[in-house]
Amino acid sequence: MDDPAGFLMTLADKFGDVLQFKLGPFKVTLISNPSMIQEVLIGKVKQFPKSTRDTNILSKAIGQGIVTADQQTHKPLRKIAQPAFMHRRLQSYQGVFEQYALESVSDLNHGNTVDMAVEMERLSLQITCKTLFGLCKSELKKASAVSEAMNELHHLLSKNFEAVVNFPAWFTSLLNVRVKRARKIIDQIIDEILLKRRNEPFQDHGDLLSSLLEATDETGNSLTNKNIKDHLVSYFIVGHETTSNSLMWCWYCLAKYDAEANKVYKEVIHHKNGEPLSFDKFPATLAFIKEVLRLFPPVWLIGARRATENTDIDGFKINKGDKVFISPFVVHRLKSNFNKAEHFNPSRWENEPDIKKAVISPSVRATETV
Ligand code: HEM
Repeated sequence: MDDPAGFLMTLADKFGDVLQFKLGPFKVTLISNPSMIQEVLIGKVKQFPKSTRDTNILSKAIGQGIVTADQQTHKPLRKIAQPAFMHRRLQSYQGVFEQYALESVSDLNHGNTVDMAVEMERLSLQITCKTLFGLCKSELKKASAVSEAMNELHHLLSKNFEAVVNFPAWFTSLLNVRVKRARKIIDQIIDEILLKRRNEPFQDHGDLLSSLLEATDETGNSLTNKNIKDHLVSYFIVGHETTSNSLMWCWYCLAKYDAEANKVYKEVIHHKNGEPLSFDKFPATLAFIKEVLRLFPPVWLIGARRATENTDIDGFKINKGDKVFISPFVVHRLKSNFNKAEHFNPSRWENEPDIKKAVISPSVRATETV
């Protein structure tokens, strides 16, 4: 199918914010109603763990990180990752974002046409490599090798998700061999960095790797190289492409919606060089980014949840084993969720914060990462 997001959207437009249908042998429920989504992802999280089919496929490529964790292992893994997101570290990442963004502007060939999709992919890759494992721009060859292998993993994961039969990781299928090969390239590069870091007295490089080298697991032991690599690859997979795609859509909307773009330019022009950047000084820009994420969410479908028991969400019966899907793309564009949903209107985010919209989807809450 060429446009699965568009197809689901057409169905939801026609039949409403809860759709139940058969997909092969499975009964599937697509939920696009905010309070029901909150029930599945938060209120009844224990009854709706991530589907093991999905996490098994993902873990072939990214191992045992927070993304593939089940409900038992999720909390300890979160605890390990948490220090990486403390205020002090976020400030250090922000320094990298600012420096690399400014350098990227001055490197642009002014007056020429620039492919912003390529430019944003490059910028996001440089920032991801620097903030995750301290790879500098001068080590671009390594960064590019990591990126190529990650892209290959992305591609293979999509193929795996589409496949009817999924072979376990130990089975020598063509897909599994290609996944292992791509992961090996990434492992070799991170191993090199790890070896260097482990051989020198500990120094905080302000990256995720430094935080993981300091972390201990629930038994108080330091993390193994395998643990560390799984964490780093997980964050790379979820953080790199999502960010570069969001930035690319921001440029698309800046080019398309003049009046809204002018509000952003005004805020940017009034910002004094060297003044600390924070979103409270850029309300129109923040609203603009939220609106871009609403209409163009980089994660159009979140990982399936599978009911562990017969349950009921707002009167809809969900049987044990049924899968529940949530599509940010559909949720964000449904008329019942947003006024004039199809219109690009950043001002909707400037008014009173609407809790319903705040919980609506992690995509819009990802604004801070952009
Ligand atoms: C615009 C950028 C981003 C968007 C739209 C986005 C969106 C999402 C969405 C929709 C999920 C839920 C997936 C699911 O439950 O199946 C998710 C999960 C996650 N994201 Fe992001 N994300 C973005 C950037 C990032 C970045 C930069 C990082 C960190 C480097 C990150 C880390 C994570 C992690 C660790 C999870 C899994 C959390 C868990 O399972 O507990 N994301 N993201």
